[in-house]
Amino acid sequence: MTITRYVLNEQTKHPESRGDFTILLSHIVLGCKYVCSAVNKAGLAKLLGLAGETNVQGEEQKKLDVLSNEVFVNALTSSGRTCILVSEEDEEATFVEPALRGKYCVVFDPLDGSSNIDCGVSIGTIFGIYMVKDFKNVTLDEVLQPGKNMVAAGYCMYGSSCTLVLSAGSGVNGFTLDPSLGEYILTHPDIKIPKKGKIYSVNEGNAKNWDGPTTKFVEKCKFPTDGSSPKSLRYIGSMVADVHRTLLYGGIFMYPGDKKSPDGKLRVLYEVFPMSFLMEQAGGQAFTGKERALDLIPKKIHERSPVFLGSYDDVEDIKALYAAAA
Ligand code: AHG
Ligand code: MN
Ligand code: MN
Ligand code: MN
Repeated sequence: MTITRYVLNEQTKHPESRGDFTILLSHIVLGCKYVCSAVNKAGLAKLLGLAGETNVQGEEQKKLDVLSNEVFVNALTSSGRTCILVSEEDEEATFVEPALRGKYCVVFDPLDGSSNIDCGVSIGTIFGIYMVKDFKNVTLDEVLQPGKNMVAAGYCMYGSSCTLVLSAGSGVNGFTLDPSLGEYILTHPDIKIPKKGKIYSVNEGNAKNWDGPTTKFVEKCKFPTDGSSPKSLRYIGSMVADVHRTLLYGGIFMYPGDKKSPDGKLRVLYEVFPMSFLMEQAGGQAFTGKERALDLIPKKIHERSPVFLGSYDDVEDIKALYAAAA
């Protein structure tokens, strides 16, 4: 079962659809294949290291950040199915030229985990898809929608294998690239996250600045008071890889806010929303410290938010601690 056949099967469930989503997805898949190949030969093709620019996030862009951004902007624009694009690497949203406009808006992080590129640790691409009503006259506020309005979301992880995980609103499926075929094959049908996990994933280097509930939660992970055994800490530093492990093994991934950065580090539109969408579709949940992550309504395209996502019961525990502190 290839991803193309899978999406076509899904399409037959929507007789009214004219295949626009299928065409859009095929262009996203093409972008992922291209970046996967570039990542795999980066060390040989002089694609490691800095590009010499700084992005709107204030981060030094890596060559692969810039290349993957160009690949996805190009693939999405030429699909003829998008009207507005938001990328981590572009300060402003890209309004697709009117002749090529379609009804979808795509928000994406072309290369997530850039700090791990030069040492060969897993990195990835994250994307979310909104349907836009009046795409001929699309304006920026059409893209500032709550994550619950997304019609699809997914990521591609460039690791020991190239795995694309996708949800179009009826469950989560994982596809692995077979390089000999150049096709993504369904390898993880109907992914469901374990209800409770044994792993917590957070950058403990920020512990000095955490608030009370986060500090208490991590304390309970390390020194449980209910007689259960301590959780293991796993933190890769690429959200795609940490979330993929959480989705398959269970547990909780967190990037909390803290005294220095009250909104945390992760960006709402193209990191928090797509991963929260997938978590909910897989039976987990995602919380910001104040509300359900997918209920957030972003005011700016690069807005950040704290996020706690993963196994249903583990997120319930952190929600209880924030409720008690409110
Ligand atoms: P990006 O490389 O797209 O800028 O994202 C990096 C993010 C995310 O992948 C990861 O979870 C987080 O940065 C790690 O941040 P710290 O190094 O501060 O832990
Ligand atoms: Mn970045
Ligand atoms: Mn990222
Ligand atoms: Mn990135």
